[in-house]
Amino acid sequence: MYKIFRSILFLFEPEKAHALTARLLHVLLFVPGVKRLFTRKFCADDDRLKRTLWGLTFSNPVGLAAGFDKNARLYTDFSYCGFGFIEIGTLTPRPQKGNPRPRLFRLKKDQALINRMGFNNHGVEWATSQLKKRKKNIIIGGNIGKNKDTHNDLAVNDYLDAFETLYPYVDYFVVNVSSPNTPNLRELQEKKTLKKLLSILQERNKSMPSPKPILVKIAPDLSNQQLDDIVDIVLTTPIDGVIATNTTVDRHGLDLSQQEKQHIGAGGLSGQPLNKRSTEVIRYLADKSNRAFPIIGVGGISSPSDALEKIEAGASLIQIYTGFIYQGPKLIRDIKRALLKMAKS
Ligand SMILES: Cc1cc2nc3c(=O)[nH]c(=O)nc-3n(C[C@H](O)[C@H](O)[C@H](O)COP(=O)(O)O)c2cc1C
Repeated sequence: MYKIFRSILFLFEPEKAHALTARLLHVLLFVPGVKRLFTRKFCADDDRLKRTLWGLTFSNPVGLAAGFDKNARLYTDFSYCGFGFIEIGTLTPRPQKGNPRPRLFRLKKDQALINRMGFNNHGVEWATSQLKKRKKNIIIGGNIGKNKDTHNDLAVNDYLDAFETLYPYVDYFVVNVSSPNTPNLRELQEKKTLKKLLSILQERNKSMPSPKPILVKIAPDLSNQQLDDIVDIVLTTPIDGVIATNTTVDRHGLDLSQQEKQHIGAGGLSGQPLNKRSTEVIRYLADKSNRAFPIIGVGGISSPSDALEKIEAGASLIQIYTGFIYQGPKLIRDIKRALLKMAKS
């Protein structure tokens, strides 16, 4: 069913297809009986899929990764696709347009995407107006970043601003320092800078009546030395976990000519070609830390076995973006079935 829908959808430019899917799902869910049908087909989670982390109970460990619902406008509708949690954002304090279009490209043969969206979002204030309407009981993560025109020296103010505004409305926070599409953002992953940023955020968090989990989202392009630094920072700050990984700037092994690569240009690669490296990063962090903190594994999951591999490597929860674009809610359902099968054996 989704395959037929996808073949029509893929006739449209990727960003238009995204908007169209969101609108169609919204309308579809108004048709009497459809919510019940989706709930039965995709959301009837067995208790054995439940995961409890940081005092939060996830109905299942498969989440929607950041960037899909940047403005917290889609989380209710897409929760009917069977996700156990949804991460909104990346949100910046002030609204910004992001990079000029085209900025999102499909690599069908590779089951991948390249994007250089550049944190296009309506700003954190606007997102809270959507989150205030939250009715459905699904865990929501708030992924926060800095505005493009904020110098890295002042980045902490942007993260604090977004954190404080979102605080009443989300269940956990993700500090995104790993998008390749905001100039110099990845420099915030440097040890001293990151330690300072996370310490300030955690201090503010601890002064709140009930502190929330804070995770850091990292790039797959970090060296082992840099991953060692991440382990050290997470354990000593301390913060609550890591999301591994964001998109990669690596272009190896793609089924694209040099000319096609040049035509697409800069951006972060997601989907199947990212899977191996992302799992390597998860395994490295889990081994180095002796599984001392939870890892949310994301990057190139496009089959149940990819998902199981990430969990085996050390991920407590997983997230999906590109696989969901190519395969729809069936992928979430199949992963959950595989997890149940594993639980039985
Ligand atoms: C179009 C697009 C936009 C994204 N935007 C964000 C974002 O705003 N913040 C973020 O942390 N990650 C963002 N990501 C990265 C995803 O959350 C995820 O880490 C990455 O795509 C790897 O997972 P996947 O292979 O399942 O897509 C984006 C990815 C895509 C494809």
